[in-house]
Amino acid sequence: QLVSQEAVVFKFTNAVCESHNKSWMVINNCRLRAVNRHKVLFNFNGTILHPTNSIMVHSQIFKKASGYKPWIINYTTDCCRFLKKSYNPLAIYINSYYFDFSNFNHSCPFMGDQIIDGLYLKVEMLKGLPIPNGDYLLAMNWYFYEKKQFSTNLYYTYT
Ligand SMILES: *[C@@H]1O[C@H](CO)[C@@H](O)[C@H](O)[C@H]1NC(C)=O
Ligand SMILES: *[C@@H]1O[C@H](CO)[C@@H](O)[C@H](O)[C@H]1NC(C)=O
Ligand SMILES: *[C@@H]1O[C@H](CO)[C@@H](O)[C@H](O)[C@H]1NC(C)=O
Ligand SMILES: *[C@@H]1O[C@H](CO)[C@@H](O)[C@H](O)[C@H]1NC(C)=O
Repeated sequence: QLVSQEAVVFKFTNAVCESHNKSWMVINNCRLRAVNRHKVLFNFNGTILHPTNSIMVHSQIFKKASGYKPWIINYTTDCCRFLKKSYNPLAIYINSYYFDFSNFNHSCPFMGDQIIDGLYLKVEMLKGLPIPNGDYLLAMNWYFYEKKQFSTNLYYTYT
Protein backbone atom coordinates (compact mmCIF):
# COMPACT_ATOMS: atom_id res chain seq x y z
CA GLN A 1 0.00 0.00 0.00
CA LEU A 2 1.24 3.44 -0.87
CA VAL A 3 1.01 6.10 1.75
CA SER A 4 1.77 9.66 0.80
CA GLN A 5 4.62 10.96 2.98
CA GLU A 6 2.94 14.37 3.08
CA ALA A 7 -0.06 12.84 4.81
CA VAL A 8 2.00 11.56 7.71
CA VAL A 9 2.42 13.69 10.81
CA PHE A 10 5.15 12.54 13.18
CA LYS A 11 6.18 15.27 15.56
CA PHE A 12 6.87 16.21 19.15
CA THR A 13 3.95 17.72 21.06
CA ASN A 14 5.45 18.36 24.49
CA ALA A 15 8.73 18.09 26.41
CA VAL A 16 8.99 17.88 30.17
CA CYS A 17 12.33 17.46 31.92
CA GLU A 18 13.03 17.36 35.60
CA SER A 19 16.13 17.10 37.75
CA HIS A 20 15.79 14.88 40.81
CA ASN A 21 19.13 16.01 42.22
CA LYS A 22 20.01 19.60 41.46
CA SER A 23 23.42 19.26 43.08
CA TRP A 24 24.39 16.91 40.24
CA MET A 25 22.18 17.72 37.27
CA VAL A 26 20.80 21.12 36.32
CA ILE A 27 18.31 21.41 33.48
CA ASN A 28 18.89 24.74 31.73
CA ASN A 29 16.61 24.22 28.78
CA CYS A 30 14.10 21.58 27.67
CA ARG A 31 11.86 23.07 25.05
CA LEU A 32 10.12 22.49 21.76
CA ARG A 33 10.12 24.94 18.89
CA ALA A 34 7.72 24.57 16.00
CA VAL A 35 9.28 25.28 12.61
CA ASN A 36 6.07 24.54 10.75
CA ARG A 37 2.95 22.42 11.15
CA HIS A 38 4.87 19.18 10.58
CA LYS A 39 8.27 19.87 12.11
CA VAL A 40 8.90 20.54 15.77
CA LEU A 41 12.42 20.81 17.16
CA PHE A 42 13.53 19.64 20.59
CA ASN A 43 16.28 21.60 22.30
CA PHE A 44 17.91 20.44 25.49
CA ASN A 45 20.68 21.85 27.64
CA GLY A 46 21.54 20.19 30.94
CA THR A 47 24.66 20.56 33.06
CA ILE A 48 26.26 17.64 34.88
CA LEU A 49 28.04 19.31 37.81
CA HIS A 50 30.33 16.40 38.80
CA PRO A 51 31.81 13.79 36.48
CA THR A 52 29.98 10.49 36.21
CA ASN A 53 31.26 7.17 34.94
CA SER A 54 27.98 5.38 35.44
CA ILE A 55 24.92 6.38 33.40
CA MET A 56 21.92 4.14 32.92
CA VAL A 57 18.82 5.23 31.07
CA HIS A 58 15.51 3.48 31.40
CA SER A 59 13.33 4.17 28.35
CA GLN A 60 9.69 3.33 28.17
CA ILE A 61 7.10 4.21 25.55
CA PHE A 62 3.48 4.81 26.50
CA LYS A 63 0.55 5.15 24.14
CA LYS A 64 -2.42 7.32 24.98
CA ALA A 65 -5.70 5.45 25.45
CA SER A 66 -7.68 6.96 28.32
CA GLY A 67 -4.41 7.72 30.07
CA TYR A 68 -0.95 6.67 28.92
CA LYS A 69 -0.53 2.86 28.81
CA PRO A 70 2.80 1.00 28.41
CA TRP A 71 3.44 0.25 24.75
CA ILE A 72 5.94 -2.47 23.72
CA ILE A 73 9.19 -0.63 24.35
CA ASN A 74 10.68 -0.86 27.82
CA TYR A 75 14.42 -1.22 28.11
CA THR A 76 17.45 -0.03 30.00
CA THR A 77 20.70 1.05 28.38
CA ASP A 78 24.07 1.22 30.08
CA CYS A 79 25.30 4.37 28.36
CA CYS A 80 28.99 4.06 29.25
CA ARG A 81 29.09 0.49 28.00
CA PHE A 82 27.07 1.45 24.95
CA LEU A 83 29.43 4.31 24.07
CA LYS A 84 32.43 2.02 24.43
CA LYS A 85 30.95 -0.73 22.30
CA SER A 86 27.44 -0.60 20.90
CA TYR A 87 25.61 -3.81 21.66
CA ASN A 88 21.83 -3.33 21.64
CA PRO A 89 20.58 -3.02 18.03
CA LEU A 90 17.56 -0.97 19.04
CA ALA A 91 19.68 1.33 21.18
CA ILE A 92 22.21 1.66 18.36
CA TYR A 93 19.47 2.69 16.02
CA ILE A 94 17.80 5.20 18.33
CA ASN A 95 20.98 6.62 19.77
CA SER A 96 22.79 7.01 16.47
CA TYR A 97 19.94 9.25 15.42
CA TYR A 98 20.30 11.40 18.57
CA PHE A 99 24.05 11.67 18.07
CA ASP A 100 23.70 13.84 14.99
CA PHE A 101 21.93 16.48 17.09
CA SER A 102 23.90 16.19 20.30
CA ASN A 103 27.35 16.45 21.84
CA PHE A 104 27.00 12.98 23.46
CA ASN A 105 29.13 10.98 21.06
CA HIS A 106 32.12 10.39 23.31
CA SER A 107 32.98 7.86 25.97
CA CYS A 108 32.46 8.25 29.73
CA PRO A 109 33.00 10.17 31.99
CA PHE A 110 30.35 12.77 31.30
CA MET A 111 30.49 16.24 32.80
CA GLY A 112 29.41 19.77 31.88
CA ASP A 113 26.83 20.92 29.37
CA GLN A 114 24.89 18.21 27.56
CA ILE A 115 23.28 19.64 24.44
CA ILE A 116 20.61 18.49 22.01
CA ASP A 117 20.11 21.02 19.28
CA GLY A 118 17.14 20.85 16.95
CA LEU A 119 16.26 17.14 17.19
CA TYR A 120 13.11 16.34 15.25
CA LEU A 121 11.16 13.26 14.30
CA LYS A 122 11.01 12.05 10.73
CA VAL A 123 9.04 9.24 9.19
CA GLU A 124 12.19 7.67 7.72
CA MET A 125 13.25 6.82 11.30
CA LEU A 126 10.48 4.24 11.45
CA LYS A 127 11.91 2.30 8.50
CA GLY A 128 8.44 1.16 7.46
CA LEU A 129 7.51 -0.23 10.89
CA PRO A 130 3.73 -0.28 11.23
CA ILE A 131 3.10 2.25 13.98
CA PRO A 132 -0.54 2.74 14.96
CA ASN A 133 -1.88 6.28 14.88
CA GLY A 134 -1.85 7.94 18.24
CA ASP A 135 -0.29 10.05 20.90
CA TYR A 136 2.80 8.67 22.58
CA LEU A 137 5.14 9.41 25.43
CA LEU A 138 8.79 8.43 25.48
CA ALA A 139 9.68 8.52 29.17
CA MET A 140 13.37 8.34 29.99
CA ASN A 141 14.78 8.15 33.48
CA TRP A 142 18.49 8.78 33.86
CA TYR A 143 20.54 7.19 36.65
CA PHE A 144 24.08 7.96 37.85
CA TYR A 145 25.52 5.16 39.99
CA GLU A 146 22.06 3.60 40.19
CA LYS A 147 20.43 6.71 41.66
CA LYS A 148 17.81 8.54 39.65
CA GLN A 149 19.13 11.99 38.69
CA PHE A 150 16.77 13.36 36.07
CA SER A 151 14.02 12.50 33.65
CA THR A 152 13.20 13.57 30.13
CA ASN A 153 9.66 13.01 28.91
CA LEU A 154 9.00 13.55 25.23
CA TYR A 155 5.44 13.47 23.92
CA TYR A 156 4.81 12.94 20.24
CA THR A 157 2.02 12.21 17.84
CA TYR A 158 1.86 9.93 14.82
CA THR A 159 -0.97 10.23 12.32
C1 LIG B 1 23.07 14.00 44.52
O1 LIG B 1 24.25 14.51 43.95
C2 LIG B 1 25.39 14.49 44.80
C3 LIG B 1 26.56 15.06 44.02
O2 LIG B 1 26.46 16.44 43.95
C4 LIG B 1 25.69 13.06 45.23
O3 LIG B 1 26.79 13.07 46.14
C5 LIG B 1 24.47 12.46 45.88
O4 LIG B 1 24.73 11.08 46.17
C6 LIG B 1 23.28 12.55 44.97
N1 LIG B 1 22.10 12.05 45.64
C7 LIG B 1 21.28 11.17 45.08
C8 LIG B 1 20.11 10.75 45.89
O5 LIG B 1 21.47 10.73 43.97
C1 LIG C 1 23.81 25.72 28.16
O1 LIG C 1 23.44 26.33 29.36
C2 LIG C 1 24.53 26.91 30.06
C3 LIG C 1 24.03 27.42 31.41
O2 LIG C 1 22.95 28.29 31.23
C4 LIG C 1 25.14 28.02 29.21
O3 LIG C 1 26.25 28.58 29.87
C5 LIG C 1 25.56 27.45 27.87
O4 LIG C 1 26.03 28.49 27.03
C6 LIG C 1 24.40 26.74 27.20
N1 LIG C 1 24.89 26.08 26.01
C7 LIG C 1 24.31 26.21 24.81
C8 LIG C 1 24.96 25.50 23.67
O5 LIG C 1 23.28 26.86 24.66
C1 LIG D 1 9.43 -1.95 32.49
O1 LIG D 1 10.72 -2.30 32.94
C2 LIG D 1 10.92 -2.03 34.32
C3 LIG D 1 12.38 -2.29 34.65
O2 LIG D 1 12.86 -3.41 33.99
C4 LIG D 1 9.97 -2.89 35.15
O3 LIG D 1 10.15 -2.60 36.53
C5 LIG D 1 8.54 -2.55 34.75
O4 LIG D 1 7.63 -3.38 35.42
C6 LIG D 1 8.35 -2.72 33.25
N1 LIG D 1 7.03 -2.23 32.87
C7 LIG D 1 6.20 -2.93 32.10
C8 LIG D 1 4.90 -2.32 31.81
O5 LIG D 1 6.51 -4.03 31.64
C1 LIG E 1 30.23 8.45 16.94
O1 LIG E 1 31.62 8.30 17.11
C2 LIG E 1 32.14 7.09 16.58
C3 LIG E 1 33.61 6.98 16.97
O2 LIG E 1 34.24 8.24 16.93
C4 LIG E 1 31.92 7.09 15.06
O3 LIG E 1 32.40 5.89 14.51
C5 LIG E 1 30.44 7.22 14.79
O4 LIG E 1 30.21 7.31 13.39
C6 LIG E 1 29.87 8.44 15.47
N1 LIG E 1 28.42 8.42 15.28
C7 LIG E 1 27.73 9.49 14.91
C8 LIG E 1 26.28 9.28 14.67
O5 LIG E 1 28.23 10.59 14.79
